Amino acid sequence: MPAAATAPSAQAPSLAVSAVTKAYGSRRVLDAVSFTVAPGERVALTGPSGSGKTTLLNCLGGVDRPDSGEIRLLGERLDSLSAEALNTLRRERVGTIFQFFHLLPTLSAAENIELPLQLLHVPAAERAARVDALLGRVGLRERASALPSQLSGGEQQRVAIARALIHRPALLLADEPTGNLDSANGDTVLALLRELTDETRTALVLVTHSEEAAAICQRRVRLRDGRVVEPEGQSDRAKEGESKPAQS
Ligand SMILES: Nc1ncnc2c1ncn2[C@@H]1O[C@H](COP(=O)(O)OP(=O)(O)OP(=O)(O)O)[C@@H](O)[C@H]1O
Ligand SMILES: [Mg+2]
Repeated sequence: MPAAATAPSAQAPSLAVSAVTKAYGSRRVLDAVSFTVAPGERVALTGPSGSGKTTLLNCLGGVDRPDSGEIRLLGERLDSLSAEALNTLRRERVGTIFQFFHLLPTLSAAENIELPLQLLHVPAAERAARVDALLGRVGLRERASALPSQLSGGEQQRVAIARALIHRPALLLADEPTGNLDSANGDTVLALLRELTDETRTALVLVTHSEEAAAICQRRVRLRDGRVVEPEGQSDRAKEGESKPAQS
């Protein structure tokens, strides 16, 4: 129940990142990173390998903490939360998609998708109805009982998308979600991400090296050596000089 409860106000950003800095030892990996993401907005987070994209995503999702700066999710400061409160906020408000799917291998497609609702103690009948609806939405109803090992990469990523959205998060984080897919499956995954985030007004931060993936986003935040190097609002993809293949 808590996941669906309150919609963010139309004005407030879903995500507000302000002067976020993080170092590993003496090495500064994020340096005063600031940007905001509105409800329903998709932002491509791009930059060379090692520029800090995954580190930033981990901070946005509350699985890692910055050394300084502020991250607000639906107005709530992540740094002010206890580990337990942060964990709860993450379970309720954030969905994550990875390059290598990260499905639980012993659970079926439907069971993988259902898991976030179990963690939130959603009643069984509602869980079943929501899983079935979203399985249909990603075109996998007939594969509901298949194990991840019995699914293609594209199918596994569609399961992962459903799992990331089943609890209706405010923020969806995706780290190279098409990096391990061929272009046809990548296109399917991108179309689903675009349609589903539009329908649910879920904010998306999409880490990618791919122009096709960046193209589903309204805006781009570009990192270099842990700093934002392009101003917000950059939309001219022709200026973007990145052509590196996905590494990890
Ligand atoms: N746990 C860690 N301990 C020490 N250094 C780390 C750790 N995690 C990441 N780094 C370093 O921080 C820098 C940024 O890493 P990060 O994984 O965020 O890059 P990235 O932009 O996601 O790169 P890629 O495109 O290759 O995935 C790199 O130099 C990396 O070696
Ligand atoms: Mg990375």
